[in-house]
Amino acid sequence: MDPLECAIDTAREAGAIIRAHVGTPLGIVEKEQRADIVTRADRASETLIVERLRAAFPNATILGEEGGLTIGTSDERWIVDPLDGTTNFAHDYPLYCVSIGYERAGELVAAAIYAPALDELYAAQRGAGATCNDKHIAVSGVASVGDALVCTGFKPANYDRNGAHFAALSRVAQGVRRGGSAALDLAFVAAGRLDAFWEFDLFAWDVAAGALLVREAGGAMSAIDGGAFCVDVGSTLATNAALHDAMVAALAL
Ligand code: IPD
Ligand code: CA
Ligand code: CA
Repeated sequence: MDPLECAIDTAREAGAIIRAHVGTPLGIVEKEQRADIVTRADRASETLIVERLRAAFPNATILGEEGGLTIGTSDERWIVDPLDGTTNFAHDYPLYCVSIGYERAGELVAAAIYAPALDELYAAQRGAGATCNDKHIAVSGVASVGDALVCTGFKPANYDRNGAHFAALSRVAQGVRRGGSAALDLAFVAAGRLDAFWEFDLFAWDVAAGALLVREAGGAMSAIDGGAFCVDVGSTLATNAALHDAMVAALAL
């Protein structure tokens, strides 16, 4: 099966499962850190996704946020956040999504992000561009931080790490947002709704699909200090490319 098709179909199916949980008891449980929560919907979504991916790609590695790691024998890796933005979801705040990225030989090749409350399906394939609901998307043309709408994220327990950066950008950008779903924040950079996004302590499942979307939409990815972006490292800066150097400078505190 084509990995992109598989990612899209699976993200939509998982999105339907998440949607079906709205208004039902969510069974919210706090994980290791304060306010880092997981619900029944996260688990049900991941169970479905892993089942679908395993059936279609039995030899691939699967890294999922809630189920951990299944090591495969091929050079393929699926990187899955079954519900990104769980806190938003738990409050029926519509910015949450399913994020599925596919790597071959360490390169991101296909990505799908589905936001069920917005009914937006973002997809990208290496070298073939990015789409939202089948329409081509591209990053914005905003060329100065003063004209930019930028976005960040942080776990409540990690606020101290980001507070000064949030304040610094609030002084110079046109606006700063904290969306609550890193994967969707990246999709919004790809779609030109946001001009830049940064976060320090992310995981591969938060950024894999979104990073490919940003690149395929003409944007740039790096670590926050401007170093090379690596899906497994955490420090993430995504921009429309035009703003990249200015954002690295603005975040160098
Ligand atoms: C979280 C969201 C949030 C980001 C956190 C992530 P989750 O993922 O992406 O925006 O600030 O760092 O952990 O827990 O909702 O999947
Ligand atoms: Ca996440
Ligand atoms: Ca999650």
